[in-house]
Amino acid sequence: MMTMMERPRRNRVSARMRDAVAETHLSPANLVLPAFVQEGKDAATPIPSMPGHARLSVDRLVGLAREADSLGITGVALFPAIADDLKDPRGQEGVNPNGLLQRAIKALKEATPDLLVITDVALDPYSSDGHDGVVVDGEIVNDETVAILAAMAVVQAEAGADMVAPSDMMDGRVGAIRDALDDAGHTKVGICSYCTKYASALYGPFRDALDSEPRGGDKKTYQMDPRNAREGLREVTLDEAEGADWLLVKPGLPYADVIYRVRQATALPVAAYHVSGEYAMLKAAAEKGWLDYDKCLLESLMCLRRAGADILFTYGALEAAKLLVGGRKP
Ligand code: PBG
Repeated sequence: MMTMMERPRRNRVSARMRDAVAETHLSPANLVLPAFVQEGKDAATPIPSMPGHARLSVDRLVGLAREADSLGITGVALFPAIADDLKDPRGQEGVNPNGLLQRAIKALKEATPDLLVITDVALDPYSSDGHDGVVVDGEIVNDETVAILAAMAVVQAEAGADMVAPSDMMDGRVGAIRDALDDAGHTKVGICSYCTKYASALYGPFRDALDSEPRGGDKKTYQMDPRNAREGLREVTLDEAEGADWLLVKPGLPYADVIYRVRQATALPVAAYHVSGEYAMLKAAAEKGWLDYDKCLLESLMCLRRAGADILFTYGALEAAKLLVGGRKP
């Protein structure tokens, strides 16, 4: 026998021991399910690059929300698929009080009042240019966009959203949205700011789902450069000062170092978005029989928690919650 005082394996000797010393935990309360909504009745349009996900009519969305609610999932993040003929350069449909998203919010708050409804604030679902802001002479203009975003947030709050989630990365939008919500009396509606959102190629399947690929150019003048992490701390400072309630990092796993830094820099809750491309990679590898989807999903989510995220936006939320409720550990 070797003589060793320290044998780290003693703390890994059995499942009970490993549970006792586990540093990180994952529960359905950590999960938010992103969902796509479309017009129609009892309608579901599958999204080929996101197996298991479809654009759902409001009635079908309600069914999904009931399931999420019964599993103890914290909330749903809603994204509307808007008909092309309702899109315009200024995204006017986004401020329609009877628009698709607003009807979906109302239906969900009626059917599952406890489930948090988190709504997307950005122009791209409504924009004929496919950008998150107004395009003038090829440029995505900031301040004009922010005024529209603030109006969108108020319309969503009026419909019953619990939190609004600006995903656009315009400067100053968190403060403007906070002011607009407060002026309209919505002091209890929170802001989940997409604080460090990167110009990532991992959003491809999401853009398939909403048909929201930019018609020209890319999103690099507003979303962050994947080469930068320190720059994210500037966004943290600004979003905190402007009144954000949650700070979100996106994408998830490839940006775990950013999650860690944001966690160190703020006392606010940190969210991470395990994005469509991350989900698609797991599903595709599993379809080929190359990876065990359930295990890889839970491991991915646990790693995001370990990096410092409190709340995880994931297309695998239902699957993960079922596994966790069934007692499965990553
Ligand atoms: C756009 C938006 C995107 C996502 C959420 N909101 C895509 C983009 O910025 O082009 C991506 C989510 C995902 O890939 O899962 N405001």
